[in-house]
Amino acid sequence: MTTRQHTTIHRSDYTPYDFLVDSIRLRFELGEETTLVTSRLELRAKGEQAVPLVLDGHRFKLRSIAIDDGLLGSGDYQVTEETVTIPQVPSRFTLETVTELKPQDNTFLEGLYRSAGMFCTQCEAEGFRSITPYPDHPDVLSVFTTTIVADRERYPVLLSNGNLVDAGQLPDGRHFATWHDPFPKPSYLFALVAGDLVRLKERFTTCSGREVSLELYLQEANRHKGEHALHSLAKAMRWDEQVFGREYDLDSYMIVAADDFNMGAMENKGLNIFNSRYVLATPESATDEDFHAIEEVIGHEYFHNWSGNRVTCRDWFQLSLKEGLTVFRDQEFSADMQSRGVKRINDVRYLRTTQFPEDGGPMAHPVRPDSYIEINNFYTHTVYSKGAEVIRMLRILLGEKCFRQGLDLYFERHDGQAVTIEDFVRAMADAGQRDLEQFTRWYSQAGTPQLTISSGYEPSTGTFTLTVRQSCPPTPGQPDKLPFHLPLVMGLLDRATGQELPVTLEGEEPPGPGSRLLELNEQEQVFRFTGLQEEPLPALLRGFSAPVKLDYPYRHDDLVLLAGHERDPFCRWEAGQRLAGEIILDLAGAWQAGQALELDEAFIEAYRLTLTSDESDRAFLAEALTLPSEKYLAELMPVADPDAIHGARQFVVRTLASRLREDFLLVRERCRRAEPYAVEDGRAGERRLANLCLAYLMSLAEQPLIELCRDQYYGSDNMTDSIGALTPLVSCDCPERREILSTFYDCWQHDRNVIDKWFTLQAMSHLPDTVEEVCRLLEHPAFELANPNRFRSLVASFSQNQVRFHAADGSGYRLLTDQLIRLIPINPQVSARLLAPLTTWRRYDSTRQELMRAELQRIQALENLPRDVFEVVDKSLREN
Ligand code: TRP
Ligand code: ZN
Repeated sequence: MTTRQHTTIHRSDYTPYDFLVDSIRLRFELGEETTLVTSRLELRAKGEQAVPLVLDGHRFKLRSIAIDDGLLGSGDYQVTEETVTIPQVPSRFTLETVTELKPQDNTFLEGLYRSAGMFCTQCEAEGFRSITPYPDHPDVLSVFTTTIVADRERYPVLLSNGNLVDAGQLPDGRHFATWHDPFPKPSYLFALVAGDLVRLKERFTTCSGREVSLELYLQEANRHKGEHALHSLAKAMRWDEQVFGREYDLDSYMIVAADDFNMGAMENKGLNIFNSRYVLATPESATDEDFHAIEEVIGHEYFHNWSGNRVTCRDWFQLSLKEGLTVFRDQEFSADMQSRGVKRINDVRYLRTTQFPEDGGPMAHPVRPDSYIEINNFYTHTVYSKGAEVIRMLRILLGEKCFRQGLDLYFERHDGQAVTIEDFVRAMADAGQRDLEQFTRWYSQAGTPQLTISSGYEPSTGTFTLTVRQSCPPTPGQPDKLPFHLPLVMGLLDRATGQELPVTLEGEEPPGPGSRLLELNEQEQVFRFTGLQEEPLPALLRGFSAPVKLDYPYRHDDLVLLAGHERDPFCRWEAGQRLAGEIILDLAGAWQAGQALELDEAFIEAYRLTLTSDESDRAFLAEALTLPSEKYLAELMPVADPDAIHGARQFVVRTLASRLREDFLLVRERCRRAEPYAVEDGRAGERRLANLCLAYLMSLAEQPLIELCRDQYYGSDNMTDSIGALTPLVSCDCPERREILSTFYDCWQHDRNVIDKWFTLQAMSHLPDTVEEVCRLLEHPAFELANPNRFRSLVASFSQNQVRFHAADGSGYRLLTDQLIRLIPINPQVSARLLAPLTTWRRYDSTRQELMRAELQRIQALENLPRDVFEVVDKSLREN
């Protein structure tokens, strides 16, 4: 049992730093055994009173420390586990420190480390302090000049932030490069790379006519895989100019791909470092989905240059200031590059299956948290995705034009500053001339609000009434909630024709048919709509205008009407999802009761109509034909029953497949093309639909269908269709499964990102022996514990396999825990994130609850638990 106490950091304890850092000069001497870092800070006390200088610092060996070039003796400063303190300093001075690092042994992948023979850094949130002693807080901005010295042969490429100002040869086969970043920045945006890399280049002319060199650095073997990323960057830059009026500010923009990376990518000023999975892609090795994800992440990191770098956060509690806003911006970018409706559907699906469970679980926290133990644990779906929803609501409430003015005002007012969420909201309120006081509750109250809506119709007056009640469940530390200010966008449909009707609030002029924005700000509100000859059908929460759960008593035929006629793509999709969800949950109930399952004929007919409809957006159609996921269905059950959900859902899949066999075959055939694959050939939707049809058909496990699948695999010229064939095959117990899995491995063993897919496919299999299969794969020579992508591809993917992870005997829970126990000492940050599936124990039956808690307790009992892991385990085992 660990006795070490970890301190909690509170938002209310914020104090500005006592010193200004006018400049920092860094010199890195990179070596195979030891690396030396010399840092020279120009420091100035802010106040008159003498105060001690407190620097953050850990995990390095401090070689020397000097003030104004006079070495300090060991009595002149104090070193603790987390800080270096000098009690007495002048009011203005130069501080020079020398630290010794061993990047080759750094498995935390935080600070300076090595990945595939290259040196690289990851400083957000608090990695810089493991390189050199420094005030490692986002509100300490300084001008960085960085010199890198390294062996010329091994590390021909030396990069840091900003502009290259000097370079040259040194004795002993070494060389150096000096970089200067003119923009003052916090330490979390510092970056350094040294390696043997090739460069891809593109030129970009900004809207004001400045020339920027876009550069992508890769291993030689990956040279042919960077084109899409580089192209996406140019698109993102143009888009940000056109849509948000934001121009790039340095002469070059560099991106480096790293195989070992804790997260997706990092927006370091002028030198982004990316997880290689969000850079490398060719049609043969990456799916349509991968291409989209790359475009999105490239966009995300680029957009940070304004929302994050030019205007940054005062402290880490303000993280959503940059992340929520930047996710909103990347979502809009992707929506403009692809199909807006489909993008919205995917974003909502993601929010509901990741953020909603977080908001309902033991780690629930507001978009702006009040406290944390380890900041790395707060890079959450709430801060990112719910944060983006909050920005989206602001746009709806203010209107497009005022929203844009508010953003312009924010960037103009705060350029070069480290600010707070209040500053952001103030800019919005000023531009929109609106009182946003109540709206800020979205930043302070955790939990997913619920809207309970009922309606009534009075034929005599032609009045339709909506009664809207809002509530929000208690979350840890927040038993009672106040009402939110939120936009409910809605419309009214004619029940006979599905036509859109005018939405006229009592006492208003008829505005003509269309969407209407209702602003909610009280616990209960009544809206009366007049001039309606018949009872209308309300289309509620168009575009998913607020991140809430909606309860309105739709009948099944209402949902069929909405699914067929509603013009808002989200609401149209949602109606179908809700219908399918209710049907599957009823069947799950029957499954639990041991009754025979039977699928509603009207549902089969509605599904057939959708399947064979002439909807031209094939990607939308594929979304509409995809049943709600097991994870989402579990969210809808009072006590989640993974076996019942899987049984019922698979029954629906198989029944649809056997009843609509010919239709699935036909639609698939129509979507398939003879022409070779091309990236962004406009046919990603067709491929999705074709592969969805194949997946349905494969649930029947009939030999001719297996042959079809096999033919698709061997005939495919692209990864989308290869994975489209392999995914259903992996859940089918047949000889072709082994054969193709092993062909796939042999064919791709040289490509890490593809081998990750190979592990994931098997971890996600529905077959009953998946736990054993995953255990075998843990012994596979290609499995690597210390590589986060590889670990995630097998272990984290398995924990997303609802039916097998939640095996009633606890074998899935044990597997995850055993592997996390191995990973914790190697990489605490990734370990803590991957604990999440165990923290949802309260959602399950008492047997599973016991099993899951026992595993958490097993982790809690480890010696020297790192604070990342401690925080998650401790919070999820608490009684409240
Ligand atoms: N700022 C990064 C982003 O959202 C996130 C990130 C990358 C990160 N690496 C990290 C956060 C390591 C914490 C730790 O774009
Ligand atoms: Zn980000």
